Amino acid sequence: MTRALVTGGAGFIGSHLVDALLARGDEVAVVDHLSRGHTHNLAGAIERGIAIHKAEVTDVEAMLAAFQEVRPDVVYHLAAQIDVRRSVGDPSTDAHVNIGGTAAVLEAAREVGARRVVLASTAGVYGDPGVLPTPEHAPIAPLSPYGASKAAAETYMQLFTRLHGLSTLALRMANVYGPRQDPHGEAGVVAIFTGAARDGRTAIIYGDGAQTRDYVHVSDVVRAFAAAGRSPVTGVLNVSTGHETSVAGLASLLGLETELRPGRAGEILRSCLDPTAAAQALGWKAKMSLADGLETIR
Ligand SMILES: NC(=O)c1ccc[n+]([C@@H]2O[C@H](COP(=O)([O-])OP(=O)(O)OC[C@H]3O[C@@H](n4cnc5c(N)ncnc54)[C@H](O)[C@@H]3O)[C@@H](O)[C@H]2O)c1
Repeated sequence: MTRALVTGGAGFIGSHLVDALLARGDEVAVVDHLSRGHTHNLAGAIERGIAIHKAEVTDVEAMLAAFQEVRPDVVYHLAAQIDVRRSVGDPSTDAHVNIGGTAAVLEAAREVGARRVVLASTAGVYGDPGVLPTPEHAPIAPLSPYGASKAAAETYMQLFTRLHGLSTLALRMANVYGPRQDPHGEAGVVAIFTGAARDGRTAIIYGDGAQTRDYVHVSDVVRAFAAAGRSPVTGVLNVSTGHETSVAGLASLLGLETELRPGRAGEILRSCLDPTAAAQALGWKAKMSLADGLETIR
């Protein structure tokens, strides 16, 4: 049996990943400081007896203690400062959590002899790329401290592979959406818009609404993580649909009235990632269409 440890496991993507790993028979433990994540996301998993370690990923000693208790074979590192706008206002905290936290997780994984670490990275590492759909070899040119800290976290992953022979893979996710996404934060335009549709509110669009995203459903994303945990592939892979949808197009798909406000610093104008490499390396492909995916959260 594989022992899996999911950092950020009480969050949106992490909690779905925990459910998927349990369903395939892995033994699962969670590390989360429960600031944004909620134990109610893990209600089913808690019934099945998973261990939750309430700890801060930047706390080196706490990480080591948790890892020594769990002794994971595979670590899925999802805990992060995820708010792009907050990263612009407070880049130091963003770097502390996303770079410092990743270094602490990698060091604890190495110390207890974990086989593999899989990182939740982001399309944000590419900034506003020249080529769409963007392949993995495109230049790293983030437009926010969040994108920069994730790019640095990826570099630490690759460093631990070279320095210590630890098997690592970073999954650069496009915009993930689905049930349990927090509509109250800055992130998650789909969660915000579906909430507005439910309540009959107008959708606020920052910028002209022509900015595009590649919306990938959380059920597809967790299949990619689960495959990544078992695969020997190292480096980076995009996890995306390869389809571009404008924010205004998303609002109209949900039948929303819209109101335009000035654009935000650090926001990427167009984003769409090429998923070909993940298909070749992991045998993974996104299956859920946006129309069907939106039905899962309406
Ligand atoms: N949602 C997306 O569209 C998207 C896209 C690309 C990458 N990602 C990445 O995927 C991961 C999960 O994102 P999510 O959308 O599920 O976010 P989320 O906020 O729902 O989950 C993050 C979890 O990490 C925990 N956490 C945060 N800081 C922590 C810390 N310092 N110590 C311990 N736990 C901490 C939170 O309590 C939360 O449970 C993140 O690394 C994020 O950067 C998300």
